Amino acid sequence: MTDGRRPLTNEALFARAVDVIPGGVNSPVRAFGAVGGTPYFVARAKGAHVWDVEGHRYIDMVQSYGAVIAGHAHPKIVEAVRQAAGDGTSYGAPTEREVLLAEEIRARVPSCEKVRMVSSGTEATMSALRLARGFTGRDRVVKFAGNYHGHSDALLADSGSAVAHIAAGAAGVPGSAGVPKSAVAETIVAPFNVVPVLDDRVACVIVEPVAANMGLVAPVEGFLAGLRRECDRVGALLVLDEVITGFRIGRGGAQERFGVRPDLTCFGKVVGGGLNVGAFGGRGEIMDRLAPAGPVYQAGTLSGNPLATAAGLAALSLLDDDAYVTLRDRAAWLARHLQDAINAGGLTVRCTVAGSLVGLYFGDREPQDYDDARRAEESTYAAFFHAMLDRGVALAPGPYEILFPGLAHDDPVMSQIVDAAADAAATVARAAGLAPAQPSPAGS
Ligand SMILES: Cc1ncc(COP(=O)(O)O)c(C=O)c1O
Repeated sequence: MTDGRRPLTNEALFARAVDVIPGGVNSPVRAFGAVGGTPYFVARAKGAHVWDVEGHRYIDMVQSYGAVIAGHAHPKIVEAVRQAAGDGTSYGAPTEREVLLAEEIRARVPSCEKVRMVSSGTEATMSALRLARGFTGRDRVVKFAGNYHGHSDALLADSGSAVAHIAAGAAGVPGSAGVPKSAVAETIVAPFNVVPVLDDRVACVIVEPVAANMGLVAPVEGFLAGLRRECDRVGALLVLDEVITGFRIGRGGAQERFGVRPDLTCFGKVVGGGLNVGAFGGRGEIMDRLAPAGPVYQAGTLSGNPLATAAGLAALSLLDDDAYVTLRDRAAWLARHLQDAINAGGLTVRCTVAGSLVGLYFGDREPQDYDDARRAEESTYAAFFHAMLDRGVALAPGPYEILFPGLAHDDPVMSQIVDAAADAAATVARAAGLAPAQPSPAGS
């Protein structure tokens, strides 16, 4: 690609981007602040691969941070969007596809008796919070350290993902400049994987059922069931943030997998097939408090957008039971072989897995909460990230993000990732003066 005179480079484009876009990116998680260097600018993508503007091809493990599950530019999704666009891109009036998508969500996630479409995961969690407060008549919200629920004021406190690099945050302490103390005065932050004791001031507990913004931290046995019990004890609502896990770790998301029925659920990413979508749903009597049925106001010009609902329906149509078996098998294979390859290269890593999600944790024990997760060796991740990029594999440029193997990551691609990881780990370990692990004696 050219600017008309000379070939574009990532370097040159980033310099122009920084001049006109804060930090050169439209979402902080895309910046290379945590790993150093210049972001690659994507020109196009297909299946498991992305190409940058310089023509380099990478195996893409970012997959739009989980929004893409069937691989980039899947023909069925592209065709659905193309057809929808030909009929108009937005109307300001309801459409059949909104009904179809809400029905499809309810069929997969029965706790969502009613569903409201929005345009992002942030909007979904923000709106679910308002609804929980409106329904219960209470103000207090409990979230967990290291969980990320988007960038609304009340939920930024002690968040994972890229927020980890800008602010400490804590209970009642803003997680970003510009968030007034009053906005988080009713936000309580608790450690992940420990059931907090609630009282009758709590409107809701919001949780990522599998934490995927502090690396990947699965819920310990009894955590989610314990949250359900504790919410019931005090009359608080349980809100599952399934923006990442929804339609990804199983047909019915984490709630199906772990057998917990929330009052409200938030979705994003997969349910939009790679377009701008969020959704939240839950018990009918709660959802009917939303305007225009009830007094809790929530609205959006582009909510339930024709292109986004077409893409979402097309994506979900690809996700049958076989697809979930494939996704789970791939993730389990990848976690096992990545861990072996990287450890053999001389770095200490734990690869965590839940459904089709894989975490990469440079440290010697599996994290159970945010304190553990933050003990990860960030500099090792940065070095490994660049060594992988040099070998044609794009991981997310931050140590608290995860890997998103999808339907396009077939066996040859998976083997290439593991081979690259073995080589990358050995290079990073050598540069750090670490010896490769000794092979186990035969027969042991
Ligand atoms: C668990 C979770 N909730 C909410 C969000 C916010 O979604 P969005 O970026 O679409 O606003 C994210 C984004 O990564 C997320 O991971």
